Order: sequence, then C-alpha cells, then structure tokens
Amino acid sequence: MNSQLDTELQTETVTMDVFRSDVLEGLNNSPKKLFSKYFYDKTGDKIFQQIMNMPEYYLTHCELDIFKNKTKELADSILSNDIPFDLIELGAGDAMKSSYLLKHLVDKGVDFTYMPIDISGNILSVLNEKFRDELPSLKIISLEGDYFDMLDKATSISKRRKVVLFLGGNIGNMDLEESNHFCRELSRKLSPGDLLLIGFDLKKNPHTILNAYNDAAGITASFNLNLLVRINRELNADFDVSRFQHYQTYDPVSGACKSYLVSLAKQHVHIGSTVVKFEENELIDMEVSQKFSQEDISKLAKDSSFHILNEIKDSKSWFVDSVWQVV
Ligand SMILES: C[S@@+](CC[C@H](N)C(=O)[O-])C[C@H]1O[C@@H](n2cnc3c(N)ncnc32)[C@H](O)[C@@H]1O
Repeated sequence: MNSQLDTELQTETVTMDVFRSDVLEGLNNSPKKLFSKYFYDKTGDKIFQQIMNMPEYYLTHCELDIFKNKTKELADSILSNDIPFDLIELGAGDAMKSSYLLKHLVDKGVDFTYMPIDISGNILSVLNEKFRDELPSLKIISLEGDYFDMLDKATSISKRRKVVLFLGGNIGNMDLEESNHFCRELSRKLSPGDLLLIGFDLKKNPHTILNAYNDAAGITASFNLNLLVRINRELNADFDVSRFQHYQTYDPVSGACKSYLVSLAKQHVHIGSTVVKFEENELIDMEVSQKFSQEDISKLAKDSSFHILNEIKDSKSWFVDSVWQVV
C-alpha cells in the first residue's frame, strides 16, 4: 500500500473515531445533543442546497442580494490600500454567494489565492468542479476539516495579509458564549490588520424567522433526520427514523432559534455495542440558529479584539455582512 493511501486511511479512522465519540458523548448529555457540523454528508449537502432555495429561507436571498448588488462595496472594503492578501472562507459550502465577490476580484485582475475550508469533502469537490468550469483562472487551495485545524493550515501556507469570510448562518450555529469564544480564538490566530467579513442574521419579525426553519415541505425536518440516517450507516446504529419528529422553536428575546428531534416512543437505539435509551417525548438538541441585534454584534466584535470597519445590509435590512479588522 502506498504511504499517501495509508495516511488517508489513518485520517479517515481518526475522523470516524471522533464522530463516534462526539455522538456517544452528546447522547449521554441531558438534554441529549448531536453536533450540527455532522449534518453535512453527501445527502446533507444536497438537502442544504434545497434549503437555500426554499422561499421561506430568506437568509440566502438576503445575503445573495448583498453579494450580487453590493459586490463593489464588499470588494473595496477588503482591498485596503492594495496590500496583497489571500482569501480564506470558513464553512464555504458551495460558495454560492462568495462566488460573486471572487469573480469580481478575478475580473479586476487582483492577485490572490482562495482557500475554502469545509468539513465536508463532498461539497469541496462540488465547489472545485464549479470553479474549474466557471472561473478557471481562480487560484484555489481547498482544505477539508474543522475550522481552526484548517485555518492553522491556511495561515501556514499563506504569507500574505489574510481576509477571512464567514458567511451565511455559520456564526449563528453557535450560542452567544460559543460565538464569543470562537471570535476571540479567530482574532488570536490572525494578525493585526487582517480582516474578517462575517454574516449575521438580524432579529426581525419572529414569524418570519420561525417559518424559515419550519418549512411547509418538511425539508428542514429531513435535514435533521438525515443525521440519524448517517449515524446508522457510519456507526452501525439502528435509529428508526419514523419514530423521531422535527420540532422548531424561536425565542425572540434571546434570539435563539432551535431545532430538536422528539422521540415519539419509549425506545432503545443501538450504536455499535452501546445502547441509548429514549423516553417518549425526550428531545435531542440538534442545532441553534442564533439571531443578533446590532448591539450583540458590536459587543461580539469588541470582546474579541476586532474593530468594525463597515456594515453592508441587504435591501430589507434583515441581514448584515460586517467587515471587521483585528486590532
Ligand atoms: C450552513 S452551511 C453554509 C454554507 C455557506 N457558508 C453559505 O453561507 O452558503 C455550513 C457549511 O459549513 C460547514 N461546516 C459546518 N461546521 C463546520 C466546521 N466545524 N468546520 C468546517 N466546516 C464546517 C458545513 O459542511 C457546510 O458546508
């Protein structure tokens, strides 16, 4: 066996061991919990692309409005006196929105390397194929893995100023304490003068928010349930998906929009040799999608040693892409 294949197999085994221990640890919690970063297998990636196209899921429409119609303002915010930079995107997904900015920079002849980071190798293949066809002159180094492990890799490869993109609802998939910790860690790993372009979904009419995650077609429900299917396949488990139901809540005071799965019966689930017991109506905490006030955003930037340079909103002022600089 060649050594590259050896390394790939070892990495795969480690990743699978981490997945197993995260799942078992989470299901041992009270309330039970699964980590939403594991939503994104091949099927999860496809369902998320369907979510982005749902009429109720305003987040993508709003941020697309910014990236399509305010591309020059975005580009001007990061070009900063023509100091050379590389562009790192955390949780890039299929780069649906960032592709407008990338195309603008390439058309302007700006010399930079794009480094998309994602935990899903599948979506990085989709992204690479798309750019090979649509933007062949884009220099691209894709990095598969967790945010900070891959950011360390990216910062060791790039010798230039860093501009980091963190778009969509990604920062919202952490509660306020976790996002505070995340942004502090991010500023610590970057250097003074580096930039972060970060998207925040703003607090708005609570019905609009709840509808975005409680769609009539049940696509968000299938996105959540797909994680049980993934656990069955990859960890030799026997979840009966028909005995779990998606439940969504939004608390307009805290801004936390939360997805749960409800066990519809008292039941036992096997994950390898481990047995996990569920009571009827017991919950699994699946994902938070945190909504922010302007004050929350200012406080988060200040607490994590960033200075806000610019704020670019969509035409409805429902979503903001905020440009931060490490102080
Ligand atoms: C909600 S999607 C958003 C994609 C894109 N940023 C957008 O706005 O359209 C989240 C993406 O982040 C990736 N992701 C989630 N958690 C991650 C983690 N801990 N490390 C790296 N990527 C992660 C997922 O695989 C997925 O592609």
